[in-house]
Amino acid sequence: MKFTPPLSGTILVADDNASNRELLDELLAAQGFTVITASDGAATLQELSRTQIDLVLLDVMMPHLNGFQVCEKIKANPDTYLIPVIMITALSDKQDRLEGIKVGADDFLTRPVDRTELLARVGSLLKLKQRTDELERAESVLFSLARSIEGKDPYTHGHCERLAEYSARLGKQLGLSEDQITALHRAGVVHDVGKIAVPDAILLKPGPLTPDEWTIMREHSVVGERICAPLKSFRLVLPIIRHHHEKFDGSGYPDGLRGENIPVTARVLQIVDVYDALTTIRPYKPAFSITDALQTMKLEVAKGWWDPHIFDQFEQLARSGNANFLSRGASAGS
Ligand SMILES: [Fe+2]
Repeated sequence: MKFTPPLSGTILVADDNASNRELLDELLAAQGFTVITASDGAATLQELSRTQIDLVLLDVMMPHLNGFQVCEKIKANPDTYLIPVIMITALSDKQDRLEGIKVGADDFLTRPVDRTELLARVGSLLKLKQRTDELERAESVLFSLARSIEGKDPYTHGHCERLAEYSARLGKQLGLSEDQITALHRAGVVHDVGKIAVPDAILLKPGPLTPDEWTIMREHSVVGERICAPLKSFRLVLPIIRHHHEKFDGSGYPDGLRGENIPVTARVLQIVDVYDALTTIRPYKPAFSITDALQTMKLEVAKGWWDPHIFDQFEQLARSGNANFLSRGASAGS
């Protein structure tokens, strides 16, 4: 019975042994896959950096960089970590499998490679990859939308990227989970996507907003949540979008949540959001120095607006001398 692959795709076969490479190449090419080969770890990484690869078949024993090291690098790189990796190990070598799991391998095959098993595993991982690609496309549409809204206002240039980076860093400092940090990173970019529903006359108004205009402006957090709601991978991002304008004393919007009822991730993002607004030049104010921004925020903490513990951690981070964190014109001494 002929095996019919459910998908097409480009598969990278990495093996230092030429006859092993040829065998896999022939087998996969005969099923309609595009096959690229690499004979060592460095060449594998090079191929991954220049070609759109859908799956990697990785030999464990290779010179220079072995299969584990290559897999670890693939999984640590945001551009490649979603590419499934099947490691080919020696028969019944439990240690190799454990090591492979540690470095993030998605599946294993043992030598001698069984043709049917190979095609079944390749097929199921490619199917999964296709779904991930679809999801990624949906996410990138949202990110582009968020960036295009930010792009309307020259004063907030780079705001989304800074927020993504700073809030993820503050989340790490607070010991939040990996999932929460990923959510913070995404929320940093998309938290204001709901401003798509705010007319430019309000969004870009140089002067203060009227009460009616504020009502419209305030809807952006709920609208943003609605826009992102269909994406299951944004489950932890939605509460950040909805609640990023709540205040610790309950005086914020949209729900007037108070204290720890505001999701911790939203409390993290809002501290960074406020800091970025203060240290950036706006039509109605100059860019504050780090000291002035932190001082202003300290007064706001005293007023009951922001979480005091998260602000303390943020202040430590901001004053830790990490130049990257504060690289935009503001300086601690001024
Ligand atoms: Fe906002």
